[in-house]
Amino acid sequence: MLTKGIILAGGTGTRLYPITSIISKQLLPIYDKPMIYYPIATLMLSGISNILIISTPQDIPQFKKLLGDGSKWGINFDYVIQKEPKGIAEAFIYGADFIGENQVCLILGDNLFYGKLDFLRNAISANRGATIFAYKVNNPQDYGVVTLAEDGSILSIEEKPLNPSSQFAIPGVYIFDSSVVEKARHLKPSARGELEITDIQKLYLDEKKLDVVIMGRGIAWLDTGTPESLIEAGTFIHAIEKRQGRKIACLEEIAFERGLISFEQLYQNYNSLPRCEYKNYLLRLINEIEKK
Ligand code: DAU
Repeated sequence: MLTKGIILAGGTGTRLYPITSIISKQLLPIYDKPMIYYPIATLMLSGISNILIISTPQDIPQFKKLLGDGSKWGINFDYVIQKEPKGIAEAFIYGADFIGENQVCLILGDNLFYGKLDFLRNAISANRGATIFAYKVNNPQDYGVVTLAEDGSILSIEEKPLNPSSQFAIPGVYIFDSSVVEKARHLKPSARGELEITDIQKLYLDEKKLDVVIMGRGIAWLDTGTPESLIEAGTFIHAIEKRQGRKIACLEEIAFERGLISFEQLYQNYNSLPRCEYKNYLLRLINEIEKK
């Protein structure tokens, strides 16, 4: 059994209008890269090489132009159009053939994670049904919220509760076994007319097959939902990259480190870029590798 990845990168992006009136939210820059590079990097760093990108009829051609078939990073991209944004859980209906008998890690295209990603790799190998994560935030009412008992078991899951009973938001990265497809097919739309990802989680909870892993403070989970959080995420990435002199979510670097591409492929990627700072960074990498 493999673990496949899905990036959900559609939606209307209305909260970011007029920025997103003609461009997909997940193509906006987070400092020096398009937003979608970050969830791709997260999946690649978790050992996933088969990724399905789901987006709108207008935006899929743009994603294809940007990312291609993934071979330059030693991975494989498939693409599927979501006709209308009818809910996150629809990803599993559109992704049914892609998932097949495998387990799947779904990541929302506008969720950024930074830090030691062992928690995700470990959760992928330990998953026995579904795994969600819990992250303490100041504004849980804006997210799916999980409430835990003293012994760590799950008491409840609620989508954007007005009066949250815990501070634990559920970040937009999830692991599900292949039964998620049938679960999604039988799901009823919520009051706001969407197939809710939290309703899927509740089905696993009823089956006692839902695990929750607390994502500690050492991990940065960044939001990109509003103009303010968008610029904050960009500033965060800028600050760390400047301090360390290393890029976050440089897909060529990750691909080479993971042994997905050869030195020749890395050089080819470098050569195919126009003069830019990203190209200079790849040259630095190439020089470092040559010195080793
Ligand atoms: O960010 C984590 C939160 O994401 C979770 O805590 C919530 O449980 C979950 O419902 C979701 O809440 P949001 O309000 O952030 O969901 P939003 O509708 O903004 O969609 C998240 C991303 O998924 C966004 O980039 C657009 C994309 N999307 C969304 C829907 C509903 C699609 O591509 N298609 C869709 O049908």
